[in-house]
Amino acid sequence: MSIGEKGRKMLGPLEPLAVDIYRKPFIDLESVARTLASVCTPARVAEIGCGEGVLATELNRAWPDAEIVGIDITPQPGRLYRGDPQAATFRSCSADKLAASDSAGFDLVLMCDVLHHVPPPMRAGIVVAARTLVADAGLLAIKDWEQRRDLATAAAYASDRFITGDRIKYFARDELVGLVAPDASDDAELILDAHIPPRRNNLLFIWRITRPQRLAEERA
Ligand SMILES: C[S@@+](CC[C@H](N)C(=O)[O-])C[C@H]1O[C@@H](n2cnc3c(N)ncnc32)[C@H](O)[C@@H]1O
Repeated sequence: MSIGEKGRKMLGPLEPLAVDIYRKPFIDLESVARTLASVCTPARVAEIGCGEGVLATELNRAWPDAEIVGIDITPQPGRLYRGDPQAATFRSCSADKLAASDSAGFDLVLMCDVLHHVPPPMRAGIVVAARTLVADAGLLAIKDWEQRRDLATAAAYASDRFITGDRIKYFARDELVGLVAPDASDDAELILDAHIPPRRNNLLFIWRITRPQRLAEERA
């Protein structure tokens, strides 16, 4: 059990406040939701690596009518979700599993601060699975931390590494944006390249995923 897991158990009802205090110096999750809402109004949203559901709460606030599906590899995802219970469901499963059981597709598939927790050789696979979850002409959004020679990166590393126990590896900007490129089955057009406060290290990229051939076949 990581230091973070032990500490959280001890905090009990104070856990949501502690999570807020711990994340705030690094990322403004409300701003993530606001930025996403400035480019889309999805009916169905999948959040891969939703953790305790803190960002899902902000997503519900941004789009009260949207259906949110949060997944994580942890046993109890969405534990701290405080939005409308009717709007969100949480599952402990991989993105591959969700893709196998949900063929309708999502208007928005989001990964926020997940990929730097994933070992580098597995990252491309998760991005491919996330991409297959996106409905035609839907959006794929990835927010992650850019490695810089700055104090914020050192502090983020210390808290991520020692609180979660994961072997963290942050991204160079090009490496992150390069994870999503046009491929044989669909096109990925980068439609947003933004920084999320309070740190320049917070990169948010949004791609529109289209499958021209399949769309053409469906229209014919
Ligand atoms: C820093 S938390 C981010 C939680 C949430 N997205 C947010 O921004 O508040 C990273 C989460 O990614 C999850 N995660 C790591 N690897 C994953 C994988 N392969 N598939 C799904 N979730 C994963 C972890 O369990 C953890 O809950």
